Amino acid sequence: MTIPQTMRQVEFTGPGGPEVIKLAEAPVPQPGPGQALIRVLAAGINRPDCLQRAGAYPPPPGETAIPGLEIAGEIVAAGADAGGLQIGDKVCALVGSGGYAEYALAAAPLCLAVPAGMSMVEAAGLPETYFTVFDNMMTRGRLKKGETILIHGGSSGIGSTAIQLAKANGARVIATAGSPDKCDFCLKLGADAAIDYRKEDFVAATRALVGPAGVDVILDMVGGAYIPKNISLLGFEGRLVQVAFLQSSKIEQFDFMPVMLRRLTLTGSTMRPRSVALKAEIAAALRRDVWPLLAQGKMRPIIFRQFPLAEAAAAHALMETSAHMGKIILKVA
Ligand SMILES: NC(=O)c1ccc[n+]([C@@H]2O[C@H](COP(=O)([O-])OP(=O)(O)OC[C@H]3O[C@@H](n4cnc5c(N)ncnc54)[C@H](OP(=O)(O)O)[C@@H]3O)[C@@H](O)[C@H]2O)c1
Repeated sequence: MTIPQTMRQVEFTGPGGPEVIKLAEAPVPQPGPGQALIRVLAAGINRPDCLQRAGAYPPPPGETAIPGLEIAGEIVAAGADAGGLQIGDKVCALVGSGGYAEYALAAAPLCLAVPAGMSMVEAAGLPETYFTVFDNMMTRGRLKKGETILIHGGSSGIGSTAIQLAKANGARVIATAGSPDKCDFCLKLGADAAIDYRKEDFVAATRALVGPAGVDVILDMVGGAYIPKNISLLGFEGRLVQVAFLQSSKIEQFDFMPVMLRRLTLTGSTMRPRSVALKAEIAAALRRDVWPLLAQGKMRPIIFRQFPLAEAAAAHALMETSAHMGKIILKVA
């Protein structure tokens, strides 16, 4: 297939709301050593893209300003040392930037085969949440079979992946979400209980479910006032894993005594600034432990809505209403 000289891509004219999103024409990038050039068929939208657009999450050094952290498509060229990748391979990939475009570069170790039976639109919704959830919930959170996990934001892209992965690993799942419909969504994904945090105090509701033993792991994206509440719910050896601070990363006062008395672990991480080598370790674990489950249909990305590339602004606006459940995807070709 002939690779064109130029392509369409999404750019931000400056920090701001969805109105700063514009389509532009740009040269098709050239793959360097260890990279593949992918003809993008679909790209996932993630909340960090909205933060980047607003000027609150700049791309790390070495990444382009073009948004987009995950793609699915076909390999059309590869640089030297691009592993066993072949032209024509159908892959999804975690990218540090540049996903909202007709062509994008991906590091070879971060390209994963599209699971059997999965569409490109579905596959584009895999990398960002699976890399993030696997690393935070399974590796940092050390979630084990038979343990109980509380997942905040259960209907989000991250939450919908976490619920399914936790259930596939034999955990008991309690999710929080912001409406009865979102709670139903979490239950249909396999959560054992769902708490509408706008109607109920999630601490009391969780305590009623788990009793004095508390929960083993909490996956949180809210922070702020949730921090002491989460810690109050952790049992002995409990782990609080922070993937975002939608409310705040600060609290006025906190007594850390429970951390010592109940031997708690407070942890968290960001994915994007990590080196390719570190992300490649997660990719290898995903290939081994998670991709077979996707191929068997035991887990699936839940696609709420897809938009053409030219309507990326509408896709961001939808994400910022938080009306969605699961993933929002850009259909690029
Ligand atoms: N650390 C990392 O490496 C990493 C990677 C990717 C994403 N993230 C972060 O993870 C979060 C989710 O990302 P996403 O792409 O999945 O975005 P998303 O689908 O837009 O999810 C955001 C969710 O937050 C929920 N929420 C807000 N306040 C809440 C509260 N008080 N209690 C419970 N849920 C609440 C919203 O649901 P309601 O409307 O129901 O409140 C919504 O479902 C974002 O903050 C993102 O920045 C972190």
